[in-house]
Amino acid sequence: MKALILVGGFGTRLRPLTLSFPKPLVDFANKPMILHQIEALKAIGVSEVVLAINYQPEVMLNFLKDFEEKLGIKITCSQETEPLGTAGPLALARDKLIDESGEPFFVLNSDVISEYPLKEMIEFHKSHGGEASIMVTKVDEPSKYGVVVMEEKTGKVEKFVEKPKLFVGNKINAGIYLLNPSVLDRIELRPTSIEKEVFPKIAAEEKLYAMVLPGFWMDIGQPKDYITGLRLYLDSLRKKSSPKLASGAHIVGNVIVDETAKIGEGCLIGPDVAIGPGCIVESGVRLSRCTVMRGVRIKKHACVSSSIIGWHSTVGQWARVENMTILGEDVHVCDEIYTNGGVILPHKEIKSSILKPEIVM
Ligand code: GDD
Ligand code: MG
Repeated sequence: MKALILVGGFGTRLRPLTLSFPKPLVDFANKPMILHQIEALKAIGVSEVVLAINYQPEVMLNFLKDFEEKLGIKITCSQETEPLGTAGPLALARDKLIDESGEPFFVLNSDVISEYPLKEMIEFHKSHGGEASIMVTKVDEPSKYGVVVMEEKTGKVEKFVEKPKLFVGNKINAGIYLLNPSVLDRIELRPTSIEKEVFPKIAAEEKLYAMVLPGFWMDIGQPKDYITGLRLYLDSLRKKSSPKLASGAHIVGNVIVDETAKIGEGCLIGPDVAIGPGCIVESGVRLSRCTVMRGVRIKKHACVSSSIIGWHSTVGQWARVENMTILGEDVHVCDEIYTNGGVILPHKEIKSSILKPEIVM
């Protein structure tokens, strides 16, 4: 079985992190976002993943070469010379997606995180006999997404409306599809949107079916949702009693700590924290609701909450970093500094406190 991951886009909403790496390579819960998806695909027997990409393909491929071998899955790129939207890339990769088997293939948005119930999706797809299956989930703010109106019992989609201005329903497209090869005959090789131009037509022919996604789901393409996504992800690890969760007197709630990270005496860590490889957390540090990426040093008695600390940054002694502060790669927050939100671009040194959220360039 094959799969395509839509990797395009500049990831502007996740700057400054995406100034250093393409969005799919930004770490989430201690590994690049895209690895969560590739591992889930591999687990259900997908043998080849095509990355549909229009930006920095070398960076992606170099990085994923290692994982091709480790995971035993073929990873190839299909590169656009102009952004082809969410459907055009499927037409471009047509030859890579279809083979004699005539099997359906998966298509995934690269910025969503969930438990990927792909086995259940294959069963569902077989059971309805339509042309395409999509995963849906309930959200509070449906207008930011593609809204799906479906027949409760059968899952048959009656309407698919991308980013509706008026309320049509609260079940939304989760960005996980299983498509028959015949769907490719509906897509021209030009910039085009699967949500606006393809799904509404398949729905009108009564061949589009939706399955409600069991478990959590989040589009983690912006900082606030990224931090919420980590909470949901860790919560799902807890429900599965995952051995990945840290434990001990200094841990509160759900926390993951890479085995190569060092935690000093007298720290209090959690809830909802991820500490990446090679991090050094010195003594007396307080961390909650935050991600600390690879190679970061948090110095004595610093306090970090509701924030993301980018790769190889440092937070000084007695510093306080909070309220959705996003530090890019290699940022240095000096001792005793307070940051109350904002975005700090890579390679900056913060010598005076940031009292209101702002962008530091
Ligand atoms: N290759 C390629 N080329 N990929 C692209 C392009 C392009 O021109 N444009 C967007 N993508 C990729 C993005 O990287 C992302 O993985 C996916 O297509 C969806 O694009 P987003 O920009 O993230 O769209 P969205 O979040 O506003 O809406 C989409 O996702 C929602 C769920 O998160 C839609 O599919 C909605 O219907 C859906 O509800
Ligand atoms: Mg998105």
